[in-house]
Amino acid sequence: MKRIDALIESINGYDTVIDIGCDHGFVLKGALDKGYIVQGIAVEVNEKPLQNAINNLTGYNVKFCLSNGFDKVNEHYDAVVLAGMGFHLIQEIILKEKINPLAEFIIASQNKIMPLRQWLFDNNFMIIDEMLAYEELFYPIIKVKRGKPNFNESDFLVGPLLKTKKSSLPYYQYLLAHYQTLVVKQPQPLQQETQKLIKTLNLAIKSLSKNN
Ligand SMILES: C[S@@+](CC[C@H](N)C(=O)[O-])C[C@H]1O[C@@H](n2cnc3c(N)ncnc32)[C@H](O)[C@@H]1O
Repeated sequence: MKRIDALIESINGYDTVIDIGCDHGFVLKGALDKGYIVQGIAVEVNEKPLQNAINNLTGYNVKFCLSNGFDKVNEHYDAVVLAGMGFHLIQEIILKEKINPLAEFIIASQNKIMPLRQWLFDNNFMIIDEMLAYEELFYPIIKVKRGKPNFNESDFLVGPLLKTKKSSLPYYQYLLAHYQTLVVKQPQPLQQETQKLIKTLNLAIKSLSKNN
């Protein structure tokens, strides 16, 4: 499934969804068109993308907000979309979320998926769903909420829920090829860590290949 389509599917069933860094607004538009959500809040730090969202969402049940992350947001929501941004920015934005302690976050980071899961673990988030979008590259989408982490260090690379889904196999094979290429180019002190990742991936691939 393509990235935007997967994001739309991932917010099915929420009431009010805030999309921080909404750009074009296609995630909220798709979800409202399908009747998946009741209303949206489209947030942008830049005027031009906010105007794109306004153009695409005129007549929809959406509020618009020019804001750096949550800074100027006062509305209530039950889910937050953070997609198409880097891990560090996503992390900064989540740390400023103060409105709904029960909010669920749908995170599609453009990079650093393993550090992202580690950070979620260190900051007391539990992973409630994981899915993969594919659009020339793989895009993991991770749904989380605050709570005791339900995963551990061995899941930081493969994902606690992705590793139970057979559809993750091509993603793991892609990651395995990446680390196998990397390890031969690395200086020896770094190879040990990469070998560990290769082992984790091989185990996940083996486990998924033998189920069914
Ligand atoms: C690459 S686009 C991703 C758009 C869309 N979320 C998607 O996944 O296709 C990132 C958007 O985030 C916006 N952005 C970056 N930092 C932000 C912040 N601190 N608060 C709100 N929006 C931000 C940018 O202006 C840009 O439009």
